[in-house]
Amino acid sequence: MASAASWSGRTVLDLGCGSGFHLPRFAATAGRVYGVEPHPALLRLAARRTRSLTNVSLLAGTAQAVPLPDASVDVVHARWAYFFGPGCEPGLRELARVVRRGGTAFVIDNDATRSTFGGWFRRGYPTIDPAAVERFWSARGWTRVPLDVDWRFDSREDLEAVVRIEFTPEVAAAVLAEHEGTTVDYAVNLFWKRF
Ligand SMILES: C[S@@+](CC[C@H](N)C(=O)[O-])C[C@H]1O[C@@H](n2cnc3c(N)ncnc32)[C@H](O)[C@@H]1O
Repeated sequence: MASAASWSGRTVLDLGCGSGFHLPRFAATAGRVYGVEPHPALLRLAARRTRSLTNVSLLAGTAQAVPLPDASVDVVHARWAYFFGPGCEPGLRELARVVRRGGTAFVIDNDATRSTFGGWFRRGYPTIDPAAVERFWSARGWTRVPLDVDWRFDSREDLEAVVRIEFTPEVAAAVLAEHEGTTVDYAVNLFWKRF
């Protein structure tokens, strides 16, 4: 992300920030960081995580109705949150509204065309067509950067607990029976666009 656009000294919006895991990382160098999140319990966790950071503000809101003025943000980050391809057009209109000219938006999501996790995802979510998702972003002028990451857990128990969050009991049981160890290779797409 940093090689596409620096957020040092700039205004960052983390859309769908969840428990705010990424907010302190942006806040370390950004001028101001806004975390927007619709789920009240997650917003509270994010507020607790960032309470000592004076340049972080948390706002209740959604990607389709961002509670920020026009042209007020330099860098937007949405990681596994709302921007999953077809259907997210209302959020894309909001990006175009809140991002300043020359600003950059980043979307991070699964690359279900490859990797062990990608295969699990195709089994768990067979109605999602990964090729259609990539076409959606490229048709709108977004650049795709394919990334290879890993899930690494301290214990098998932790890995199994997370797999059971992500998938139905049937799919989780099937993929866990086929996979040993505490690591899962995981392909990710970073999509980005300059506004
Ligand atoms: C898998 S979590 C990712 C959280 C965070 N981005 C991270 O990487 O740790 C998905 C998040 O998207 C949020 N979300 C769901 N619908 C949303 C919407 N319409 N607009 C913005 N965020 C949304 C959820 O409440 C949740 O916090």
